[in-house]
Amino acid sequence: MADSIILETKSLRREFGALVAVDNVSLQVEAGSLHSIIGPNGAGKTTFFNLLSGNIPPTSGKVLLRGKDITNVPLYKTVHLGIGRSFQITNIFPNLTVLENIRLAAQALGKDSFRLFRSHRAFTKYEARAWEVIEQVGLMNEALLPARTLPHGAQRKLELGMILSPDPEILLLDEPTAGMASEQVPELMALIQKIQAKGNKTVMLVEHNMNVVMTVSDKITVMHHGSVLAEGTPAEISADETVQTAYLGHLYEDSAASPQ
Ligand SMILES: Nc1ncnc2c1ncn2[C@@H]1O[C@H](COP(=O)(O)OP(=O)(O)O)[C@@H](O)[C@H]1O
Ligand SMILES: [Mg+2]
Repeated sequence: MADSIILETKSLRREFGALVAVDNVSLQVEAGSLHSIIGPNGAGKTTFFNLLSGNIPPTSGKVLLRGKDITNVPLYKTVHLGIGRSFQITNIFPNLTVLENIRLAAQALGKDSFRLFRSHRAFTKYEARAWEVIEQVGLMNEALLPARTLPHGAQRKLELGMILSPDPEILLLDEPTAGMASEQVPELMALIQKIQAKGNKTVMLVEHNMNVVMTVSDKITVMHHGSVLAEGTPAEISADETVQTAYLGHLYEDSAASPQ
């Protein structure tokens, strides 16, 4: 395996009863790239991310991080290996401020041992890290506001900040622009690209908005019924006839028709 491959799956498969949600997916992710996974609803994208992050175990197959087998490493440990995963909205404490939420994410997922929690030095360190992240995601003006008062776009930035706070090498972002007004999407995507390029991070992105995907991705994997239908650069995917006939035209219509 080339050194440049940071994450790899080998025949990764996940069944839910009779349903095969992820069907023998073998994929390689280049370090430092922005690699998108697209496909219609139910294609298995979220399940695939769940398998990569150890949120659920696969039925069979492997996940390798820099060539090391992490297949059955659970979520709370993959985070310590540098895999940052989207938080669901329910992971945000609505009554805590932006600063407190980001500091807690840094603490809970930080590389330090839990023993350091009560020490003042550790607290100061996480507080400093939280401010760094707040600046990075552009929430300086909202830092002291309770999370529940944030408009939707700012909440999405907060989620991104919470993923970023333990300083992961790989970010798994599952529809980060979902529910955002379309005029807010470019700002969030520019932020994600900046984090990827300047922070030297690998970003895996699931995204419905095809215009976004085609603009920001280095590589695109198309999933369909749990399998990989096609893989390539945005230009290759746009030109791929199988993808076109399967649903790409339909997806473009979707992303034009709704802000999702
Ligand atoms: N926990 C689960 N239990 C049963 N079926 C599930 C579960 N999670 C996902 N699925 C099913 O697996 C398939 C893939 O779902 P998902 O990975 O969420 O697709 P996508 O994110 O591409 O929309 C769907 O048919 C979905 O209903
Ligand atoms: Mg999904």
